[in-house]
Amino acid sequence: MLDLLRDVLTQRGFVVECMTSGEEALAALGKKGAEPPNLMILDLDFGPGKATGLDVLATLASRQIEVPTILLTGKGTVESAVQALKMGAVDFLEKDSFLEENLTLSIEKAERLVNALTVQRMLREENIALRREHDYIRERTLSRYEIVGEDPAWVAAVNQARALASVPRPVLIVGERGTGKELIAATVHYEGERRNGPFVVVNCAAIAEGLLECELFGQEANAFDGAPFKLGRFEIANHGTLFLDEIGNMSLEFQSKILRIVEYQQFERVQGTETIEVDVRVIAATNADLHAAMEAKRFREDLYDRLAFQTIKLPPLRDRKADIPALAVHFVHRFAAEVPGVEPKAIDEDALSVLQTHDWPGNTRELKRVIESTLCRSTGPTITCADLPAEIRTPNARPVWTGDPCKPFADRIAEVERAILADALARSSGDERSAAQALSLPLAEFRKLRRKHGV
Ligand SMILES: Nc1ncnc2c1ncn2[C@@H]1O[C@H](COP(=O)(O)OP(=O)(O)OP(=O)(O)O)[C@@H](O)[C@H]1O
Ligand SMILES: [Mg+2]
Repeated sequence: MLDLLRDVLTQRGFVVECMTSGEEALAALGKKGAEPPNLMILDLDFGPGKATGLDVLATLASRQIEVPTILLTGKGTVESAVQALKMGAVDFLEKDSFLEENLTLSIEKAERLVNALTVQRMLREENIALRREHDYIRERTLSRYEIVGEDPAWVAAVNQARALASVPRPVLIVGERGTGKELIAATVHYEGERRNGPFVVVNCAAIAEGLLECELFGQEANAFDGAPFKLGRFEIANHGTLFLDEIGNMSLEFQSKILRIVEYQQFERVQGTETIEVDVRVIAATNADLHAAMEAKRFREDLYDRLAFQTIKLPPLRDRKADIPALAVHFVHRFAAEVPGVEPKAIDEDALSVLQTHDWPGNTRELKRVIESTLCRSTGPTITCADLPAEIRTPNARPVWTGDPCKPFADRIAEVERAILADALARSSGDERSAAQALSLPLAEFRKLRRKHGV
């Protein structure tokens, strides 16, 4: 029997190893570092006192060794054969005159299984790799969403976001540009029960109205114009959160579609007829004045009522200037962590106070940009006033003068001149030459004015 099997299998290109007992097979398979074979053909009955084929299968299973196995049986042992199949054998063969033909079929079956097992193993490995990558990206995303700031209005907004995190209702976030709307939306998502689901962002203002529908709802393949199937963001966000950013500018028609999905979690794909149901938490944000938009009939009131189940209002940065130093330091470290070759640096007191005098029309996002470009530009060991961009160094909200309106004209001009000189000297840490330079004055002229005003 062994000789016959070896011949048939060798002809099919297998490398064959023959053994004469179950014990021998188990010893070979149990060797340290032994690669399990692609296929094992195993006799059911090795004679009295010897391990049976079923014993071998049971032992392999207990050692978690996976070997596709074909069982050889004698006449009338169908029951054991069935049991062998239950224990994971691929097939069984009767030792009769058809053995050779049946063996061929059986091997084909086993080969298919081997392929499936190989694919399964690959998928398992790929899965592990993907998990790791996912964890890494998640880690990075979360550090991107780290929150800084102790201003009471800001802290209240953050706490509100956390409290709403697990409430399965829409949230509306309003605030000027760059105030941290996306950051707060991410907080709502990552601190809630959906944190392991996707957090999908759609910037409604960045996508043309005509494409928005396809982007959000997806599209069925269309044989006519060759349009491919596309999964929409609502489906991608299933069991997670969809963040609709800049909702202020959607057309009224589109708003009614959004209304339906917010209300009933139902929609159809573009070109599709099937109604799709999803489980998506919607968070919307805008820097537009939605009340004005509703008054002007540009925003649907019913949509507003749906979205604004709870509204989180973010304060502008100019109203929480005490947070500026901490934010600036945070952005320095974040940038250094993100960009290879950039080292974090301290920001000196003067520079911090200049940052606090600026009005920040672009809010936190503008602060972040300024800090990053300053860090790139600065060459010294710390960031100083001189490193800051000119538009920040020039105060935009400082009154031109604060003199007594009853004083004569000449006196008030003198006051302004004195203030400018003092300010320039402070910014250059007392260095006359660079103060004069900053004011585009010849050094001699600067000194003359300084003496005149006693600065
Ligand atoms: N309190 C904060 N702590 C840490 N980082 C912050 C804070 N507020 C904002 N940021 C960061 O500032 C940047 C701008 O924030 P975000 O994108 O959330 O604002 P936005 O209101 O969505 O802005 P836009 O109106 O421009 O879309 C982001 O990189 C964000 O991580
Ligand atoms: Mg945003």
